[in-house]
Amino acid sequence: MSELPTIEPLPPVADCAMPWDRPVGDTVAAIGGARAECGDTFVIDSGEDRYLFLFSPAGLRAFYAVPEKQASKGVADAKMLMRKLPEELFQGRRITPHELFDRSSVSAYLGALEEAISRQLAGLNPGDEIELFDFSRRLGHRLGLASWAGREILDSDEFGELTDALDALDGAEAFVAPTRMREVALSGKAAEREALARAERILSRSVQGRRSPRGDLLDEIVSRWDDAAEPEKRVGVSRDIILLHLASMSNLFAALGWTLVHLVQHPRILERVRAGDGADRDLATRCALESTRIAQRSIMLRAVLEPVAVDDGSRTYRVAPGATLATFLPLTNLVGAPGLDAYDPDRWRGPRLASPSGLPPEAVTSFGHGPHSCPARPFALTAMSRVVERLFGTFDLEPRFTQATAPPEQIGGVARSAEP
Ligand code: HEM
Repeated sequence: MSELPTIEPLPPVADCAMPWDRPVGDTVAAIGGARAECGDTFVIDSGEDRYLFLFSPAGLRAFYAVPEKQASKGVADAKMLMRKLPEELFQGRRITPHELFDRSSVSAYLGALEEAISRQLAGLNPGDEIELFDFSRRLGHRLGLASWAGREILDSDEFGELTDALDALDGAEAFVAPTRMREVALSGKAAEREALARAERILSRSVQGRRSPRGDLLDEIVSRWDDAAEPEKRVGVSRDIILLHLASMSNLFAALGWTLVHLVQHPRILERVRAGDGADRDLATRCALESTRIAQRSIMLRAVLEPVAVDDGSRTYRVAPGATLATFLPLTNLVGAPGLDAYDPDRWRGPRLASPSGLPPEAVTSFGHGPHSCPARPFALTAMSRVVERLFGTFDLEPRFTQATAPPEQIGGVARSAEP
């Protein structure tokens, strides 16, 4: 093992590993146990890496404020995702979700969202039994692809093959099933490369079939490649779409799944969503925010590139390049104050958490804080609230589950469901 990066002074070192280095069973119990034993600031040495975990109010503030050039989210996320995704997918990208969503208003994708929801609802009949997370996953594919691959992709005969390929690529597996990454490495990512080629072929055909601009997100992506020659252009556009789509599938369908689960479990809230009047006009959005908060399973990582001083409120740690700063949302979102473990969409005032009052903003995270907060938040909240309004405006859903829990191994993104 090479020498670990220094942290001075060194906080307590927990007897714990990260699940991509060694199976840990239940990740929340393992990292929660480390926090119970060591306090709000501690180190985990795992594999070749040293992680500095921060949970105190000042530690969280410092974590979210650290500049990208000093401690990088991009580098940390790429390291995690490249355990699953082929490296070439990250090379040469010309558009980021920040650029795409900063330049687009809701009107650039609202029509696509409505169309995707209509298609999904048209496949439902009274008396059907659905697996909710499979339903939300298929809907997530439709919502995303209709928005950034052009609405016409929904009519493609190859749509099912495209979503199968994207499910095989699924970068989120790196944190949903971290122990499987050894197998992926041993295969040289063969299944992923084959899936990438299939998705590229289907998307290229669809994009090339577009004859005139439509003012949507796909036009914005294609315009970045105006000066490129074929086949670079066709591959480049397809990969921009694929990476964007995989980013969306990290969280959106799962957050939507929990939003539906919680509403089925809380009929009184659902009644108010259906009435949707007065102060409840934005209730569907607040339900989506509340379910996202509760289901958050994200590990937040920043790879230290330049020496950085981190003040956790009690002391200042000097952290050397090579270390990784970290925090873990299931250990903040539900426990920072009494009552946070309960489902209550009325704790939100618009986009702000109002109850319990007096909490520092970083104590609870749904879409992030500071420079790296989610660029797709308006897109995701619009998509989720429109699904809620239209699905429950048309159907009653009756629970066929007794309990809903997250898969114990997951360490990142919004929880999937351990059981159907
Ligand atoms: C309910 C759905 C979603 C949730 C809960 C969510 C949550 C988050 C959170 C918590 C962060 C901050 C992570 C950190 O600080 O380390 C983030 C960042 C990000 N999200 Fe989302 N997200 C959602 C949907 C999406 C979608 C649909 C896309 C893309 C189409 C997307 C793309 C991104 C990107 C690219 C970043 C990184 C931004 C940066 O590094 O500056 N997200 N998201």
